[in-house]
This record gives sequence, C-alpha cells and structure tokens, in this order.
Amino acid sequence: MSERPTPLPLVVVILAAGQGTRMRSAIPKVLHKLAHLSLLEHVCRTAESLQADDIYVVYGHGGEQVRESCRHLACHWVEQDRQLGTGHAVNQVAPYIKDNQQVLVLYADVPLVQAATLQALRHKAADGLALLTVELDNPEGYGRITRNQAGKLTGIVEHKDASQAMLAIREVNTGILLAPAGKLGGWLARLENSNSQGEFYLTDIVAMAVEDGIAVEALKTTNPLEVSGVNDRLQLAALERYYQRMNAEELMQQGVTLRDPARLDIRGEISCGQDVIIDVNVILEGKVSIGNNVRIGANVIIRDCTIADGAVIEANSILEKSEVGAGCCVGPFARLRPGTRLAAKSKVGNFVEIKNASIGEGSKVNHLSYIGDATLGVGVNVGAGTITCNYDGANKHQTTIGDHAFIGSNTQLVAPVSVGKGATIGAGSTITKDAPADALTLTRAPQKTLSGWQRPVKKKE
Ligand code: UD1
Ligand code: CA
Repeated sequence: MSERPTPLPLVVVILAAGQGTRMRSAIPKVLHKLAHLSLLEHVCRTAESLQADDIYVVYGHGGEQVRESCRHLACHWVEQDRQLGTGHAVNQVAPYIKDNQQVLVLYADVPLVQAATLQALRHKAADGLALLTVELDNPEGYGRITRNQAGKLTGIVEHKDASQAMLAIREVNTGILLAPAGKLGGWLARLENSNSQGEFYLTDIVAMAVEDGIAVEALKTTNPLEVSGVNDRLQLAALERYYQRMNAEELMQQGVTLRDPARLDIRGEISCGQDVIIDVNVILEGKVSIGNNVRIGANVIIRDCTIADGAVIEANSILEKSEVGAGCCVGPFARLRPGTRLAAKSKVGNFVEIKNASIGEGSKVNHLSYIGDATLGVGVNVGAGTITCNYDGANKHQTTIGDHAFIGSNTQLVAPVSVGKGATIGAGSTITKDAPADALTLTRAPQKTLSGWQRPVKKKE
C-alpha cells in the first residue's frame, strides 16, 4: 500500500463579501437559511470538521449583520470594503497566513460541499495547487478549465473572457481550490485586473503556478449539486431539496421507513432507532431523538424532543421540548408544549394541550383538555374538557393529582390545588380546595326537575 503524504496544516478562507442582488432581499445572501443553518454556517461547519488551524471569513456586504449573526462560529473576520474580485478577496487574508500552510478557498454561497471531497482535494494537492472542477452540460457563466495536448491543466479562463473554442469546454472551475501559502502571497500580489470585468481574478493564479513549475491538479467531482452556488431563491430551494433528500436517504439507510422521502423535512440533528415509520409531511427540528419502533403520523411537527421506544404520535400533532415515554400514544391533534414529560404508556388524545407538566405512567388525558403546570401520578384518568386553571392573571400555580385519581369531565382545577390518590371528582366541578384521597368530591348543583313546566310558545303576529 502506498503511504499518502500528510497534508500541510490547513487554513480556510471563506469568501462571503458578495452582495447577492438576485436574492432580492434585505438580508445578506449568506444569512439565508438552508434547513436550520445559514449558508455561511453550513460552510463554516464543514470547514471546522477539517480541523483547520484557522478559518477566515472575508465579509463585505451586510458586514455587521453577518458578523453579528455568526458570533458563535469559531472564525476570524476580515473585511473586504470594496469587492474588487475573488483574488482581491483572498488577498485580504494574505497577511495572516503562514508559509508552511495550505490555503483552502471556499465560498459562503456554496453551502453543501462535502468534507470528504475537500479531504480528497487536500491529498490531491500535496504541496502544490489543486482545483475542484466539475463537468456541466451547460457551463454558461463559469470559468473554463484549459488543458494542453497532454491533458495537463494550464489555466482557467472566465466565461466573459473566453474565445468561442474555449466556451465549448464543459469542465468548469467550481471556485474551490487549495494553494500552498508560501506561493500564494506572491501570486496574489502579481494579479492584474486587465480583463473584461476589471476584477482581480483568483483564477489567474493557476497559470502563474504552471509558469512557476508548481504541480497543478484537478479533482473532478461527479456531483454538480455539491458544488452548486446559491444566487437566487430558486437555486436555494433546489439545494434545500437536495439536502433534505440526503437526510432522508441517511435515515432510510439506518432502518427508518419513510412513506415518502420527499415529504420529510429535517432541520436539525436527528437520531432514530430501528423500524421507525414516518408518514408524510413531517417536520423534525432541533435535537430530536427517536427510539425504536416509533410511529409518526402525517403532518406532525417535532422540535427538540425525546421519543422513547414504541411511542405513537398520531397525525397533526405538534410537540416541542417534550419527553415522550415508551409506548405512549399522543394525538391526533395533540399539542405538547415545552416541559411536557409523559411517562411510559401514558396517553394524550385529540385537542389536548399540555405544558410544563408530568403525566404519570399509564395516565390518560384523552380529549379536549388543558393541563399546565401540573404533576399527575400513575393511572390517572382525566375526563374530557378538564382544565387546570394555572394562571391567576399574574402568577402561575401548580396542580397535583395523585395516583389513580379520576377527574370527571368538564372539571376546572383552580390552582394551586391538589387531588388526593384514588380521589374521584364529579363531572362539571370547579375545584378550588384540595380534594381528599379515596373520596368523591364534586361541586355540582343538585339536579332538579320542575314537573308541569311548559315551553314558551311563539306569539302569533
Ligand atoms: C467564480 C470564478 C469562476 C467559477 C465560479 C464558480 C473567479 C474569477 N471566477 O466566478 O471561475 O467558475 O466562481 O461559481 O474567481 N467574492 C468576494 N469578493 C469579491 C468578489 C467575489 O467575496 O470581491 C465572493 C462572492 O461573494 C462569491 C464568490 O466570491 O461568493 C464568487 O464570486 P463571483 O463574483 O460570484 O464569481 P464568479 O463570477 O461566479
Ligand atoms: Ca458566482
């Protein structure tokens, strides 16, 4: 086996200074979202995964806004106050780069380039120059890769500067390249802007490298989407679909059944057990952890939740910052708000809202109820239309319901209040004082019948 040489230490330069006029937006282009992350965050994350010594972001348009929204990213910010071309942009970082490093140039508007591809490019470059290229059926607008008779790379010619013959070349520059820092500074200093766009082209360093006798290699990716840029919202939508397709395929590889892989959206980090079945139009956001044999119905939205083995989430339910225990049944049309904890085998049915509440094992809140700021024991049965009146207009108060209590339908529990173990609350009660264990408590007015009472009769005109 041939030993691959260890690549040089890496610096990443991410170009993010362009305006992105075609987005027609008040938001800088690189801050538009693809799934849950901005375009720039996607590229920064990929860069971080390469374990670079440093990551530099060259910013310009929307400067403060871009920096502000990406404060959490471990990168350095370098301003390019006027956008004089890609070569000029990279040159802004030149003073910070050390000679023994390898410089990887990425684009903040090319969000889905894969770390594995970039690693391959590093190995290809060794201590020379390497370009990531792609063959396109329609190379319109891209820089063309020129090669000599022997097939050796000789340079890049921008579309606007290309001759008819060169325009026929289908191998194009993706923009992504790796260059030895020791040479790059000199090349950048020698760039000129005597071209059709009056810009300092980074691509001109390729011909300089050839001239200097530095090895120039190209790595051709076979996946155009990986190196696609976002210039308008149509391209953004196309990449969003591609990204979602990759997510969906990964889940299916892991043993998840998707009734339609095109109708699942993942906007975060999802972990999923085996034999999970996900129906159509489901959105999973943030950190979602799903156990084995979970079934998720159509039109369900789950954000930052843990769902244990065997749970069933029926259609049209919305779950946020909640824990669903093993074998639970939620929905259809249930809403679990933050702080909901459902113990194993509990049930939350249709048109039920739960917030900041623990529901004990095997307990049921099956119909049309609101349970907020409450603790329910095991085996509790909450009848239809039960409401915890947790808010007095100023403060929130707790409701506690003991094991095996039975709350009759249409009960209001005015918190703070507690219902003892095994207690029964008669239907239609308004409970304002603690209800003792193992007894029937009710506030219902006695039923009476007025015999001989007559219905009013409509008056004649
Ligand atoms: C560039 C390449 C072209 C390649 C194409 C791939 C050059 C000269 N051309 O062309 O060979 O096929 O990308 O998409 O490099 N930027 C700055 N500061 C600047 C100019 C650009 O930060 O002064 C950033 C832009 O925000 C953008 C990227 O660099 O993210 C590319 O710039 P752009 O003007 O779109 O280059 P292209 O003409 O597309
Ligand atoms: Ca471009």
